[in-house]
Amino acid sequence: MRKPPIPIEPQTDPFQHAFSNIARSILKRLLHFEVLPSTNTYLKTLGDMGEPEGLVVLADTQSVGLGRQDRSWHSPLGGLYFSILLRPKNLAATETPLITLSTGVAIAKVIHDAFGCKTSLKWPNDVEINGRKVAGILVEQSLMNEETEYIVVGVGINANTSLIEFPHNLQKMATTLREELDRVIELPRLFSYILGQFEFWYLRFLDKGFPAITPHWRKLCSHMEKPVIITIGKERITGTTKDIDYDGCLIIQTPTGRQKIRVGDVTQLKYE
Ligand code: BTN
Repeated sequence: MRKPPIPIEPQTDPFQHAFSNIARSILKRLLHFEVLPSTNTYLKTLGDMGEPEGLVVLADTQSVGLGRQDRSWHSPLGGLYFSILLRPKNLAATETPLITLSTGVAIAKVIHDAFGCKTSLKWPNDVEINGRKVAGILVEQSLMNEETEYIVVGVGINANTSLIEFPHNLQKMATTLREELDRVIELPRLFSYILGQFEFWYLRFLDKGFPAITPHWRKLCSHMEKPVIITIGKERITGTTKDIDYDGCLIIQTPTGRQKIRVGDVTQLKYE
């Protein structure tokens, strides 16, 4: 039988130190591992076993990092990979995409405020610098009678990795903070800033609902009022991004009318 992974000793861990230094009402406990298959998968197992809200799981590297739509998430050493367990009360399954949006706002604001990089958001879950992806968010939920039993919010940030370590096909689409800033950044500090902002935007969402998030998301969106192609499997829809709906769907103006997009990949057209 495979041995369960053993977390890094908390007393000497700079991530635990950074974690204990932020004022928190939701995020209670951190488990930090050198390697996990996926922090989302690990936390979902604990979620199924009844783990209370507020556990954060962090791994220095992931062997089977997961991305949206069954893609993989390249997770070499130097990146920041963590997941958060939440148990929001009375959250309809349809509202979960808004947590992806509020997490995106939190990450974009931290990268902008802490490093001065001009960040933007691409629907639904990409954080970009100059049109290249620097971070991704994977929110997974477990449902009970149409309501959310728990949510796992997974965040991957290309921080101190260099692009050479990325698969060839990603090198043109991705960037890393190290590439953008030309220096190595302090990961524990970035981690604590992001958790602090995450809590702020998440609590705001729970308290005031989607109107408190969407104006900020809209402002940060790289393709608002811009021509785009939406790819949904083999289907392609061409139009102009018009808005984000109350449930986190994207609203596109197409030649035949407005269309609500629930899933898909956005490509911004460069001509206007
Ligand atoms: C995406 O952009 O497709 C989402 C990427 C999410 C990656 C993070 S890394 C931490 C957490 N664990 C995973 O396996 N995936 C998420």
